[in-house]
Amino acid sequence: MKTFTDKVAAITGAGSGMGRSLALELARRGTHLALSDIDEASVANTAIACRALGVRLGVRVTSQQLDVAQRDAVFAWARDTAAVHGKVNLVFNNAGVSLSVPAATARQEDFEWLMNINFWGVVHGTQAFLPYLSASGDGHIVNTSSLFGIIAMPTQSAYNASKFAVRGFTEALRMELDLAGSPVSCTCVHPGGVATNIVTTSRIDDSIAAFTGIDAQTHRRRANKLIDVTSAEAAARQILAGVQRNARRVLVGPDARRVDKLARLLGASYQALVVWFYRRSAMSGKRATGATSAHSTTTESSTH
Ligand SMILES: NC(=O)c1ccc[n+]([C@@H]2O[C@H](COP(=O)([O-])OP(=O)(O)OC[C@H]3O[C@@H](n4cnc5c(N)ncnc54)[C@H](O)[C@@H]3O)[C@@H](O)[C@H]2O)c1
Repeated sequence: MKTFTDKVAAITGAGSGMGRSLALELARRGTHLALSDIDEASVANTAIACRALGVRLGVRVTSQQLDVAQRDAVFAWARDTAAVHGKVNLVFNNAGVSLSVPAATARQEDFEWLMNINFWGVVHGTQAFLPYLSASGDGHIVNTSSLFGIIAMPTQSAYNASKFAVRGFTEALRMELDLAGSPVSCTCVHPGGVATNIVTTSRIDDSIAAFTGIDAQTHRRRANKLIDVTSAEAAARQILAGVQRNARRVLVGPDARRVDKLARLLGASYQALVVWFYRRSAMSGKRATGATSAHSTTTESSTH
């Protein structure tokens, strides 16, 4: 896809972060937009901003509340998008959530909540839009994995599982599309740290304190610092550049590019390095405090 002008793009999770920035950047480039998010007010706000930016280029913007975990609702949204906009060229399966909890104490309901959004949401969006993307004659699927779909991290087993799954799903899909000579292509996006609301709204299980030696609030504060590497606006531009060059994989940010290189160099031994780094890093309080497991288990109201 060489240009985004006069194309139609559907974006999930468009109310915040990279989804919102993708919408704004595409509106500037003259792309018609179908926006969705589980948070109705935030996506309505993005839609207003996109209409204002795209007015000169006659950009049409629709928006609606949508939970990507709901398969039937995603298929209905794809049908409506094709009917209202006349075609669909791009789908950005971007919506995602995060969860920090040691694997041993992860609750089934938290695991399912995250997998239903991060993994099944991507599958739903891909399968729902694929027929319309094919019909457009020039389609592209953009699935958001993560740097944590390339390497794993302690306390991220659920998130890692979902993002490795997105990567496997998307890479297999890309080869199938290639083999079929399809007019649709796809790209797997692996952002490193991007300054968005993902950490602020993440679920952080209280059991993390016994494992890391830091409580949920401190973990959230430190994680927010760690993702402050690339802006959402810069991330959106890097993702769109990747779509334009039909990249199989887009690494977003210098941290993602660095860590990807290291992981390829070290193979599975990267884990020993992570353990070493983790013991000394901001995400573990044990070294600094000497703490083991005697910590209060404060739950932030937003975490469950
Ligand atoms: N920010 C980072 O550092 C980072 C790094 C790697 C990958 N990612 C991934 O990038 C994607 C975008 O996240 P972001 O960083 O912009 O976060 P964000 O929290 O700013 O935006 C995510 C959006 O998804 C929406 N959402 C949540 N659950 C939903 C659901 N069930 N249905 C529909 N929408 C839902 C939220 O309301 C929010 O608007 C996610 O898939 C995330 O996992 C983010």
